[in-house]
Amino acid sequence: MPTLFDPIDYGPIHAANRIVMAPLTRAKATREGVPTAIMAEYYAQRATAGLIISEATGISRQGLGWVNAPGIWNDEQVEGWKPIVKTVHDKGGKIVCQLWHMGRMAHSVNTGEQPVAPSPSTAPGHIRTYDGLRDYEEARALRLDEIPGIIAAYATAARNAIKAGFDGIQIHGANGYLLHEFLSDGTNHRTDQYGGSPENRIRLLSEVVEAVCQAIGAERVGVRLSPNGMIQGTMDSRPEAVYVPAVQMLQNLGIAWLELRELTQTSEPPTDQLRLSPELRMFFHHTMVLNQDYRHGNAEDAVASGMADAISFGRPFISNPDLVRRLKENIPFQPVDTATLYSGEQNIQGYLDYPFAP
Ligand SMILES: Cc1cc2nc3c(=O)[nH]c(=O)nc-3n(C[C@H](O)[C@H](O)[C@H](O)COP(=O)(O)O)c2cc1C
Repeated sequence: MPTLFDPIDYGPIHAANRIVMAPLTRAKATREGVPTAIMAEYYAQRATAGLIISEATGISRQGLGWVNAPGIWNDEQVEGWKPIVKTVHDKGGKIVCQLWHMGRMAHSVNTGEQPVAPSPSTAPGHIRTYDGLRDYEEARALRLDEIPGIIAAYATAARNAIKAGFDGIQIHGANGYLLHEFLSDGTNHRTDQYGGSPENRIRLLSEVVEAVCQAIGAERVGVRLSPNGMIQGTMDSRPEAVYVPAVQMLQNLGIAWLELRELTQTSEPPTDQLRLSPELRMFFHHTMVLNQDYRHGNAEDAVASGMADAISFGRPFISNPDLVRRLKENIPFQPVDTATLYSGEQNIQGYLDYPFAP
């Protein structure tokens, strides 16, 4: 039976174990989306993970609405990523770049323009902006003639990630951002070929994945989905109807790996919708990573039973840079200090100062 500590491949990426660092936005880049030096030390501390998925990284100014989140659409950003990727590689780790367009979750204070979405809508709640906390704004519907530009931006960002030295990329199709908004009938009310039937709602994801695969090779491509429940106001009323064909499409395009963030009745946020991974697993034959609320025990069980090939850990990796060793030696996890999740651009508190186990 496989264990978390056995090697696994994501296409040509050979990972030493099946423990993945989930993508975690930490907001330490400059206002121009250029990664900073402290990010290299942060990722290096966590390089014993078999695979690191970078924090969500903007494909364009329009798509990057988070304060101090990094981007990868220009040369300066690519140069900023190079030493980070190199440090991880020097430590023997592997790292892919999570490509992000925030859709309606962006804010004009941060991007300089009204957010875009499949259909006009406003995300619930507030967002941190460079002018303090603001309500989300109403997003406008993307025009048909804008969609090729979005797809091209993903392909350019993927090429840039390879230029920066990343081992591959992950397309962020989860968590209420642009691609998830297109997939979900709660946020996609279009009447053109990008809305309505599941086939139409999958179209943007499919065209983005295809373009990225052409740009860097399908074997370097992974996708993240959050098929069940509501995240940041986005959900589908019948997830199975859209995610089964979506995953079949991803299998046909030959991507190397798929990560599913799945919610449960007791997760944050909670949901009554069932987890879809047992069914989706039947349609996806490459490496499958599962996420959310895995700890000692249930992570081992998921890999041993074949439910997952690997497990990604989010919050545990924030407060336990040595998570791999803690899992292996059954050392308790240190709790996350939520007050310091976003402690400021150059503040290392809650970022570089979580101790390694003695
Ligand atoms: C501080 C923080 C930042 C996050 N940033 C991202 C992100 O950039 N991209 C993403 O896909 N998910 C992001 N997530 C979600 C995590 O990747 C993960 O799905 C979630 O924490 C559940 O997994 P866990 O139970 O192992 O923490 C973030 C979560 C937290 C707590």
